[in-house]
Amino acid sequence: MTCLKWWQKAVFYQIYPRSFADGNGDGIGDLPGIVSKLDYLEKLGIDAIWLSPHYPSPQFDCGYDIADYTAVNPEYGTLEEFKHFLNGAHQRGIRVILDLVLNHTSDQHSWFVESRSSRLNPKRSWYIWENGKNGGPPNNWESVFGGSAWELDVTTGQYYYHFFFMEQPDLNWHNPEVKQAMFNAVRFWLELGVDGFRLDALDTIFENQDLPNHTAKLTQAELRRALQTTRNADERKYLQEQGAAMFKHQLNQPGIHQLMQELRAIIDEYPDRVLVGETDNIAYYGDGDNELHLVFNFPLMRTSRLTPSWVRTNQRERLASLPASAWPCNTLGNHDQSRIFNRFGDGQNDNALSRISLALMLTLRGTPFLYNGEEIGMTDIYLEEIKQFRDRRAIWYYNTAIARPGTTLEEALAYANQASRDKSRTPMQWNNTPNAGFCPPDIEPWLPINPNYTSGINVDDQLNDPDSLLTFYQRMLQLRRQTPALVAGDYVSLHQDSEYYLAFLRQIPGDDQTCLVVLNMSEQGHRLSFDMPYSSARVLFSSRTRDSDTDNLGTISVAPFEIYIAELR
Ligand code: GLC
Repeated sequence: MTCLKWWQKAVFYQIYPRSFADGNGDGIGDLPGIVSKLDYLEKLGIDAIWLSPHYPSPQFDCGYDIADYTAVNPEYGTLEEFKHFLNGAHQRGIRVILDLVLNHTSDQHSWFVESRSSRLNPKRSWYIWENGKNGGPPNNWESVFGGSAWELDVTTGQYYYHFFFMEQPDLNWHNPEVKQAMFNAVRFWLELGVDGFRLDALDTIFENQDLPNHTAKLTQAELRRALQTTRNADERKYLQEQGAAMFKHQLNQPGIHQLMQELRAIIDEYPDRVLVGETDNIAYYGDGDNELHLVFNFPLMRTSRLTPSWVRTNQRERLASLPASAWPCNTLGNHDQSRIFNRFGDGQNDNALSRISLALMLTLRGTPFLYNGEEIGMTDIYLEEIKQFRDRRAIWYYNTAIARPGTTLEEALAYANQASRDKSRTPMQWNNTPNAGFCPPDIEPWLPINPNYTSGINVDDQLNDPDSLLTFYQRMLQLRRQTPALVAGDYVSLHQDSEYYLAFLRQIPGDDQTCLVVLNMSEQGHRLSFDMPYSSARVLFSSRTRDSDTDNLGTISVAPFEIYIAELR
């Protein structure tokens, strides 16, 4: 335990700054707002914050379109306020990592403004400019957000490349000046004392420089529609292959590992910093010590139901594939996904299942990442009018749907809601007053507030309720901190065939501590028996009231959806 690094022991909590807390009363979250909630975070029991982009940005992609890498979005505050936030977090023992978007900038970034001004501008080669072909774009590549990945700039008569929105032109990472400028920005924040970075969309940083056409037989819009409707496993597989073929030349291209190693070398000049990658590709661990410290185990969340066999298979494959010194990293939710409450719920037992999700995050081997609002059971919002949407991806899908003959407004709206990431980005629900205590009652928040704040889904109502989800989060986080095996222990899977419950050990070699974890993912109770060289199980945590705090390993009963954690003696 003592030889683990802070980021191996930490529980991270993602803050989406626009939606966390509004300190100056303009309907938009900001740094003073976050500072005012640091005591809350300390009491919650998290160890580190991942702050989604806080940089100046026209907000075309909610901050993931950065216009200046070494400043603070004036809507969120000043650099001084950022320092104040960082200090405040550090004083409470909370580390802070920032979002680092290397692949692209905003089209409003001065680098791009210069680059597009003329073919002869010195910054021209900072981005990817190409001549068109046969009166169209250079090739058939698509943007992952829909439509061509190339945009014609009429002034200079060339196309620029964008993997995401056209307002997010890709940087040309083959240009050493780009690397230098970005590394300077990285150093700027490290010098200020931030504890590391979450690397955005790193698979997309390099492209195939020969620009070959992709060979997928469908457009991306067709693919997405087909994936949503298909129930046939063979067809699904075919569609997934088509998806991979579509982006084959735009993802994971040569050069990226070298770049990650260079970035790691910079990070390592500063004591105790961390890099976590928005990718599930374990190749980014490098040899375990020379690229990223953490890579998300996204495959775990790619399901609508967390079943015991799903988790067991994921853990078996994932843990076996990591390089020896690599440390796992688990998450079930973030600002791009549906809320955990909806995503892994069944519509009937959502509260119990959301507790199982947290217990899973905090007991599996690896660093957990939680997403703000999860702790009070915030849910997805369904927006009733297109004008309420802020996520341009949803608006793009709405417009494409409307343009298809025969699509009704309701269908287009449903489609937009499905594609939208706004649903999990709504303002944090702090209390049961108008606007949920996020911003003043008479101000319109930047994104509608989920009306369910009035029915107990808010921090204040849950804080002093011993049965609330929030109290459960606090108790579980505290338990993890106090239980070395849950942090440092090896994972040993038990009862491989159970369809109803997940059982495993977390065990520190040398038997310093061994914990038994049982997560009953079913509506039935079960009587379990374990044949192990221990005589008893001392219950450390149970989500129900148990008759005794010690069990015999031959007969442990678990109630429906019970979370059971015991130390074996
Ligand atoms: C990442 C972010 C997402 C953003 C995209 C482009 O996937 O999580 O929100 O839109 O990168 O920067």
